[in-house]
Amino acid sequence: MSIQLNDINWPFLAPAIALGLFLAWHLLSRWSNLSTSRTNASTNDPYQDIEPLDFQDWTAIEPMKIRPFRPKFYLTMGLENCPLSEYLAFDNTYLERTKIRTAVLNDHPKETHDCNPKVEAAVLEMYEWMFGTYLPKRLPTLFKFVPRDALPSEPKGAATNSERYLHNTITGEYIPLQPPSAKEALRTLGRNVDDDILILLPGSEAEDGSPIYHLEAYVCCFPSGFSLPEKFGLPLAAIHAPVPNYAPKLAKSMDRFFAKLETGRAVRRANWSITTDDKLYTQAGNHLYANGETAENTAIDKNEKTLDVHAPDLDATIAEQKKEVEIEKCRLRCERQTLHRLPRSRALVFAFKTFQYLLKDVKGEEGGEVGEALALAIEGLDRGNSPEMKFYKRGVVWGEKVVEFLRG
Ligand code: HEM
Repeated sequence: MSIQLNDINWPFLAPAIALGLFLAWHLLSRWSNLSTSRTNASTNDPYQDIEPLDFQDWTAIEPMKIRPFRPKFYLTMGLENCPLSEYLAFDNTYLERTKIRTAVLNDHPKETHDCNPKVEAAVLEMYEWMFGTYLPKRLPTLFKFVPRDALPSEPKGAATNSERYLHNTITGEYIPLQPPSAKEALRTLGRNVDDDILILLPGSEAEDGSPIYHLEAYVCCFPSGFSLPEKFGLPLAAIHAPVPNYAPKLAKSMDRFFAKLETGRAVRRANWSITTDDKLYTQAGNHLYANGETAENTAIDKNEKTLDVHAPDLDATIAEQKKEVEIEKCRLRCERQTLHRLPRSRALVFAFKTFQYLLKDVKGEEGGEVGEALALAIEGLDRGNSPEMKFYKRGVVWGEKVVEFLRG
């Protein structure tokens, strides 16, 4: 018996064929997922379940465009959840950045890293997670484990008992999985991770007995106009003393948030400012404090200055600095900041990656819309809940020229 195409009941058969094809596709994709997860098995531990970043060629990964500006500046925590897989933002600036970081660490050892003994275990825990788990899982083609006896030469630097190393195939460094000391661990993190890392532990108590977090360790190559040796050991409120309205508007909610942040959850936020040069490492000069002095002239013990816009020489200082602003040298500078708690030590890790953008690029983005949004945000720095922010960010110096350029 032969079946003619005309004999087939198509209205009935077509959905059945579609269903069959769907089931076959579903089974195949399940099988392929299962075989992938055999190599990247889920452990239900968010610190271990790091998804690999999907890319062909790391040199083609463009840096993120962080655009956190709003028409009015509101001083808020502005946090959102961050999957731990996305903890670091990796891109094609990595090699050039790590070279700068290494140079800054060598040239400014005292300014860039320090560690109190009470936080050493937390530093080692962060190191172990970063090099033993995060990087090899997130960027498995770029960071690879190597046993000690397969190293191309005897490891350089301080002696370690490490039997395994992580090969950073971009820089060529072999990173011991057991660092010789907490300070060395900070230096290695500083060289290999393009995030500045600050570690906090409870150091005092609020009136209600809840813990207040203090800065106990840091490796910071790209401070935007502040000095971490001056902040070392201090609680969050004292660290933020120069930030206008931090005490009335943010301090309590920050302390509460830091005390309660649970393990396994990471959060992120972003900030922005304009700098009048392209230096990544700036211990001073990006902010105006109290009497119009830049932090360069600020003695360590005067760090808690409050803003005094009525200082006698203020207008003259601003006028002098305004003349020096050159648009080609200015940058939009943004930090992508994260916060999470280490599960063993329960220390908090605050980290940030610094992005710099040319004003001409921002101006033209999305047909000029982003340039206009930045111009509005600059005008709105003193129109939100902390108007002194314009002064603090030196907007009174660069604001007019930058807005004029963005709208020109
Ligand atoms: C997620 C919580 C945090 C929030 C919401 C926050 C908020 C801020 C804000 C609004 C500023 C002013 C500049 C700007 O970003 O626009 C600032 C500056 C600063 N923050 Fe934070 N911050 C946080 C965590 C931390 C931590 C944990 C540290 C250090 C342990 C820190 C260190 C600093 C420093 C050093 C400055 C510059 C202060 C100066 O000019 O001397 N921040 N922060």
